[in-house]
Amino acid sequence: MRQWFRRRYLDLLGSIYIYNEHRGYTAIDRVIEAVQLRWPADKQLLARIRKHRADEHKHYLMFRRWFERRGQMPLAVDRTCGHIDRFVGIMFRSTIDELDPVKVIGRDELFERLCRVISLTEKRGHRQVEILLRHPIVRADARLMRIFRIIEQDEPSHWAPYDEWLTAHGARQPNWWERAIDGLIHSELLLLKLPVLFLTPRLRRLRKWPDEQDSCSAHSAHHTLVRG
Ligand SMILES: [Fe+2]
Ligand SMILES: [Fe+2]
Repeated sequence: MRQWFRRRYLDLLGSIYIYNEHRGYTAIDRVIEAVQLRWPADKQLLARIRKHRADEHKHYLMFRRWFERRGQMPLAVDRTCGHIDRFVGIMFRSTIDELDPVKVIGRDELFERLCRVISLTEKRGHRQVEILLRHPIVRADARLMRIFRIIEQDEPSHWAPYDEWLTAHGARQPNWWERAIDGLIHSELLLLKLPVLFLTPRLRRLRKWPDEQDSCSAHSAHHTLVRG
């Protein structure tokens, strides 16, 4: 029973992480396209966001390798388990894929809002990783510990460009209610979704790795951009 519990816990944890890392770098692709249109001269901002994208992609690949070593595909969790999906959904009343980068970039207050959402999500991620690094089930898995240590190191450089952009443009930092929404989404995932998934007997597994479809989603994002 204990063995089953541990395996199930790590299975779900890894599945939620691989979903979020993949969602992370595919969503950043859209931010990059938008920034390229609006502030093409801001090479430093673009370079930092590209670095952020590269890190999330690296995190994704680390989880992919972790699953490959276990000889199992991740469980198919959907965007209700994506922190950034939920956050964008509440703040923009739209899914990430439907969010029009041209519209976001065309209005400063929307881009500022997006910066705050990304920054809060990254800070949340950092705190969560610190908790997991102390978790006994995680600590028993040396490979997973190595992954979480790398993520812990990377995270601060992820929120910095957005925080600094807000300061440089005289925009405010996240306020109490944006923090409250972030907290709510997190507790909902932890206290509601995770236990439900845990107890659902036959969760489907992915048949393909999420990155196998990257080029087609990048393609459709490009078309949204052109149409917008
Ligand atoms: Fe990440
Ligand atoms: Fe990150």
